[in-house]
Amino acid sequence: MTERLEGESGLTRAVALLRAGELVAIPTETVYGLAADARNGEAVAAIFEAKGRPRFNPLISHLASLEAAAEVGVIEGAALELAQTFWPGPLTLVVPLRAESGLSSLVTAGLGTVALRVPALPLAHALLTAFDGPLAAPSANPSGKISPSTADHVAESLAGRIAAVLDGGPAEVGVESTIVDCSGPTPRLLRPGGLPVEALEAALGAPLNHEAPTNDTPPNAPGQLSSHYAPGKQVVLNVTKPAEDALFLAFGPGYPQASANLSLGGDLREAAANLFAMLHALDTQPGSVIAVAPIPNNGLGLAINDRLTRAAAPR
Ligand code: TXA
Ligand code: MG
Repeated sequence: MTERLEGESGLTRAVALLRAGELVAIPTETVYGLAADARNGEAVAAIFEAKGRPRFNPLISHLASLEAAAEVGVIEGAALELAQTFWPGPLTLVVPLRAESGLSSLVTAGLGTVALRVPALPLAHALLTAFDGPLAAPSANPSGKISPSTADHVAESLAGRIAAVLDGGPAEVGVESTIVDCSGPTPRLLRPGGLPVEALEAALGAPLNHEAPTNDTPPNAPGQLSSHYAPGKQVVLNVTKPAEDALFLAFGPGYPQASANLSLGGDLREAAANLFAMLHALDTQPGSVIAVAPIPNNGLGLAINDRLTRAAAPR
C-alpha cells in the first residue's frame, strides 16, 4: 500500500525508499512530482508504468542546487544567467547532457540534452539535499489526467501504484514549471508555465524564441521530432530470425545469436531501462540494419513498441 509521509521522519523515509529504487510522490512549488532515482533505469521505467504513460518522453531531473545541476548538464551562457536569476524556482532548463552524468538514458529518452530544475519549496530542497542526487519526476498523475497540487490528489489517483506520498501541503504555483531550451544558439520557450515569459525576457534583455513546440509534429515522423532520439540505421521490427548481417536486438530467452538483449528474462521494466542505451550502442556498431525481436504489447511494452515503431518508420 502507498505510505503517507510527512515531517522530518517522513522525509527520512522518503529518501530511504528513493534510494531503494521505489517511487515516491514529492511536493514542489509547481505541482506534485512522481519521483525516482534518475540514475536507476528500472526505477525510472516504473514511473512510466505507474502513470500508464504509453510513450517515453524525456523527464525533468530535479536537483538541490545549481552546483549539483552543473554536474549533470552543461550550464553556461544564457542558461547560467537564467539559473542564477530564477533558481530555485519554477523554471526548467534544457541543456547539453554531461557524458559522465550517470543519468539513466530513459530519463533523457536517449537525447544528448537534459531538462534540469532546482525547486524552491523548502521540503523539496531538503529532500533533494538529503537524497544527494538527481530525481526524475513528471507530474504525479495518471497519463491524461490533470496535474496534482495536493497530496490527496496524488493519493486519489495513484494509491497502490507507488510506494509513498510525501505531504508538503498544497502546491503554491499550481501549474508546471516553464521550460526553456538553452541547448541551441538562442534560448527557446518549450512550455509556458509557472514562471512568466515576461520575467525571462526581462532577465535575458531580449525576446524569447516562441517557435511552436516540436511535439506538435505528426507522431509517425520521428526524423522531424527534434525532441526524440532515433537511430541512424534502418530498424526492422518483430523479427525472430534475423538476417546474418543484421544487428539483432532480442527480448527474452532463446536468442543466443543476439547482438544485445533488452531483457533475457523477458522483464518489460528491465527492457525499458535498457532500450535507449542499447539502441545507441547498436547504432555505433558496423552494419546497416537493427532487427528487433517482438515485444509484448502490454504494460510498459506499449511505450517500448511506440518508441520502436517511430524508430522503424520510413524517414
Ligand atoms: O513543474 C514541473 O515541471 C513538474 C514538477 C514535478 O517539477 N514536472 C514536470 O515534469 O512537469 P515532466 O517530466 O512532466 O515534464 C517533462 C517535459 C516534457 O514536456 C518534455 O518534453 C520536456 O519536459 N523535456 C524533458 N527533457 C527534455 C529534453 N531533453 N529536450 C526537450 N524537452 C524536454
Ligand atoms: Mg504532466
